[in-house]
Amino acid sequence: MAHKLLKGVRSAKKSSLKKQFKQDKEKKRQKAAQKAKREEERDENPLAGLKKWQKKAIRQEAAAQAAAAAQAAAGLAKAKVTTKRARAKVESAAEAPSPGQSSQRSQKEKKLAKKEARQQAHQQRQHRELYAGSGRVLLVGEGNFSFARALCEVRGSGDGIYASAFDGEATLKRSLGSVRRKNAAYGTGLQNGGKYPDAVELQKQVEEKGGTTLLNVDATKLHKVREFRDAFSIILWNFPHLGAGEKDVEKNNDLHRKLLSAFFMSALRCLDEQGTVHVAMKEGEPYKSWKIVQLAKVSTDGVLQLQKVVPFSLSAWPGYEHRRTRGFNERFSKKDNEELAKGAKVYVFARSQGNAEAEQDAEDE
Ligand SMILES: C[S@@+](CC[C@H](N)C(=O)[O-])C[C@H]1O[C@@H](n2cnc3c(N)ncnc32)[C@H](O)[C@@H]1O
Repeated sequence: MAHKLLKGVRSAKKSSLKKQFKQDKEKKRQKAAQKAKREEERDENPLAGLKKWQKKAIRQEAAAQAAAAAQAAAGLAKAKVTTKRARAKVESAAEAPSPGQSSQRSQKEKKLAKKEARQQAHQQRQHRELYAGSGRVLLVGEGNFSFARALCEVRGSGDGIYASAFDGEATLKRSLGSVRRKNAAYGTGLQNGGKYPDAVELQKQVEEKGGTTLLNVDATKLHKVREFRDAFSIILWNFPHLGAGEKDVEKNNDLHRKLLSAFFMSALRCLDEQGTVHVAMKEGEPYKSWKIVQLAKVSTDGVLQLQKVVPFSLSAWPGYEHRRTRGFNERFSKKDNEELAKGAKVYVFARSQGNAEAEQDAEDE
């Protein structure tokens, strides 16, 4: 059939075909021109070309929509003159989920909150359990003694708690602003003035609860205090830091590695047989680069080994307020606790079993 048609086309006169094509072309052009004109008209008047009843229906719907919008605008305007809160309510009502959706969401939120609360309670228990025993605990590098005070409270008394600070009385008492530089160990200048205005009061509270507070205690020279040797079940340093303000990152890391290394060596000599050394550290850099696990091991010739790591639970210690080495600062200190809440850990180091010989070597040094 197709073949026949083709044959027919071929046999048609050329001229009549040409004429036909011309006519078709003209018709197409006219149709296109009409269509373009209609579209142009519709752009200017959206109702152009529609039937009467269609136009009427559209006009009615548009009027209804305009009335509704005016009503909403009036509501918003009214809310504007009341309170900001009311305005937010009106606006959010427009986006409010359906009752089904919101009850689903609030159930999810409740579940999540419950899960978080369970996790927080677990971390609190874990952290407190570290200090639940009755052995002697030596805290070094206390800032304002607020952790020591909280520890006394959680344990029910300050018996066996020895809380020490690096600073002397004059430094703790000195008023804010009178910051002085003092050349200290490790070749750095420690900013050591007007540090913790609340320390004296908190120190008093620790003593009232039966704890002992000590000043001028250098965590790297603990073993030099004769009474400290072999005396403690736990030696804890929360957030060791020199506060030296060293800008060179590598140099700063090096200084802290030296500080911690000296601390581990000294602390080891002050532990009783089952004793452990605890160090709390924030997560991330620069702390990660201090490589504390390796450091404890290497600096004690393999005697101190990581036993466990426990998340630092801020909420486990009511009243504890983290302090920087540089001292209390209205602007930063409040945020410091928030920073700890983002992630900090307590590293617990214990004597590795069967390493008495290495320990003896470390002691002889
Ligand atoms: C970041 S602050 C932490 C203070 C406190 N532990 C806390 O959690 O709020 C570090 C503390 O370590 C102390 N420190 C620095 N070098 C020390 C050293 N050689 N011996 C003992 N403490 C030292 C500083 O004086 C400072 O109080």
